[in-house]
Amino acid sequence: MSIVVTGATGHLGRLAVEALVAAGTDPSTVVAAGRNPERLAELASRHGVRTAVIDYAEPDTLEAAFAGADVLLFVSGSEVGRRVAQHTAVIDAAKAVGVGRVVYTSAPHADTSELVVNPEHKVTEELLRASGLTWTILRNNWYTENFAGRLHEARETGAVVTSTGDGRVAGTTRADYAAGAVAAVLGDGHENRVYELSGDVAWTFDDFAVAASELLGVPVVHRDASPDEQLALLREAGLDEGLAGFFVTVDHDIARGDLADATDDLRTLLGRPTTPLADALRALV
Ligand SMILES: NC(=O)c1ccc[n+]([C@@H]2O[C@H](COP(=O)([O-])OP(=O)(O)OC[C@H]3O[C@@H](n4cnc5c(N)ncnc54)[C@H](OP(=O)(O)O)[C@@H]3O)[C@@H](O)[C@H]2O)c1
Repeated sequence: MSIVVTGATGHLGRLAVEALVAAGTDPSTVVAAGRNPERLAELASRHGVRTAVIDYAEPDTLEAAFAGADVLLFVSGSEVGRRVAQHTAVIDAAKAVGVGRVVYTSAPHADTSELVVNPEHKVTEELLRASGLTWTILRNNWYTENFAGRLHEARETGAVVTSTGDGRVAGTTRADYAAGAVAAVLGDGHENRVYELSGDVAWTFDDFAVAASELLGVPVVHRDASPDEQLALLREAGLDEGLAGFFVTVDHDIARGDLADATDDLRTLLGRPTTPLADALRALV
């Protein structure tokens, strides 16, 4: 079986390539694809995989890389606002060269939830369904790694300030999502299925503060601020307007429950529990 992994030069895609090889996949059947040639060369020398330089904005590069692929692990792009055009190009190229199945990394309840990142994922899912390709949709909940800054804040100040209220996050590590993606790539019976991939437990930022306190050995509290207060604090801390606004919006979405759905889907794909919050945070210290 020939497998192409896009976004292989990024965090999730690299972990997926590593997990594919660790699962015993012949590296010569794996193509790691991304824009950055140096990172591709490193993957080739470290794992023996083949590589392809692709750009979602350059359809020719996509068709050349995808030709002959039984499965395309399509890691969603990172250029917010450009992804509908880019993802359209990926799906068109996959169709043009007859890729056997596209496994796409989406976002929680992309079809129904108003989570800030969802519009481009929703359109991509619709394009995949309309394409005539065989697909698997992996709706990844949040990465625990996104909260590394909040762990740092806890250590520096003894507090984690959010505007999440008692909203819950069913996140887990990128490594768990990558392993789940590899199970969906290599396993049978995942054709035209949607999975809501999450951690086993949906935790609150009160839980986060307790885990951080135990890990760091210092008292840590969760303080719930209003969105306006949190925005002011983030600006004061030197974040630019766009990033500060994004963080406050995500907190609003968490407060609304957009990341709260803890399902069994990832656990079932992995055949083991997902990484507990305390272990995930330990890896970030
Ligand atoms: N669930 C979550 O919490 C969460 C958080 C952040 C992002 N995401 C989504 O999950 C994806 C993977 O996460 P990550 O942490 O691995 O992100 P990442 O480290 O930023 O990696 C993004 C990957 O996308 C590739 N890429 C971006 N634009 C491209 C283009 N025009 N053409 C070809 N490749 C392109 C990058 O290639 P180069 O490095 O070679 O340029 C890189 O390999 C993100 O792209 C985003 O869609 C999810």
